[in-house]
Amino acid sequence: MKQSKLVVANWKMYLSTHDTSVLINRLNKKVPVYRNVEVVLSPSYLSLQPASMEIDRRKFRLAAQDGFYKDEGAFTGAVSYSQMRELVHYAIVGHSERRRFFNENLDEVRDKVAACVRNGITPILCVGETKQERNENETKQVLHDQIVTALSDLTSEDAEDLVLAYEPVWAIGAEEPAKPDTIKDAVDWMRYQVRELYGQKTESSIRVLYGGSDEPQYVSGIMEVDGVDGLLVGRASLNFEQFGDIITGVHLAALSKD
Ligand code: 13P
Repeated sequence: MKQSKLVVANWKMYLSTHDTSVLINRLNKKVPVYRNVEVVLSPSYLSLQPASMEIDRRKFRLAAQDGFYKDEGAFTGAVSYSQMRELVHYAIVGHSERRRFFNENLDEVRDKVAACVRNGITPILCVGETKQERNENETKQVLHDQIVTALSDLTSEDAEDLVLAYEPVWAIGAEEPAKPDTIKDAVDWMRYQVRELYGQKTESSIRVLYGGSDEPQYVSGIMEVDGVDGLLVGRASLNFEQFGDIITGVHLAALSKD
């Protein structure tokens, strides 16, 4: 059975715990239960525990924005996936901001993906090229390396639930998202990588998101792209009206495709 669409809010390092509660309350009221859309919220570590009690569970699930790949030990300042496993269904892994500001390399991303799966958490693996890599025609190579390395410890069974997110670095925090044709080329290529690794069945069961300057007016154009199953939303998810409209847009796009 085809899975529901997926909309993920990435709240990055923006909200205090209090502000997170306020936003969750507003979203609880604003967002209806859509049976064809799963909505996931990713507050900071600090807010995960209170958020788990505040979210309307018919409407929302939680994701971690990051995690450490060891399950426990002398790792001051780190939070492991095993510590979060009761709180979250998903974890964002390999976001370009982690790769850029925290020097996360391909092997670390692979170990985090494996740690998520080991702890029953579904990874949302972010991949995407920088502007320079795109200009130098390296997009396919970058996406290939990021995907193949990150998944190298997963069996096809592990990979079936996987979520991939195409987040071109140049479209994050930008004025507008990548164009649908650009998204299509990247998503086709990403799905091809998964097919090569695990076969057709796994490829058709994974979900692929697009992230980068998503706003309500772009939702229908992006959701029309074949192979795109949802969105990973940054700034617009901090505003309950805009995020609510994005969720409704994904719901309507899914209805019109049925
Ligand atoms: P913006 O939607 O703010 O461009 O951020 C996208 C993103 O990085 C989501 O993970």
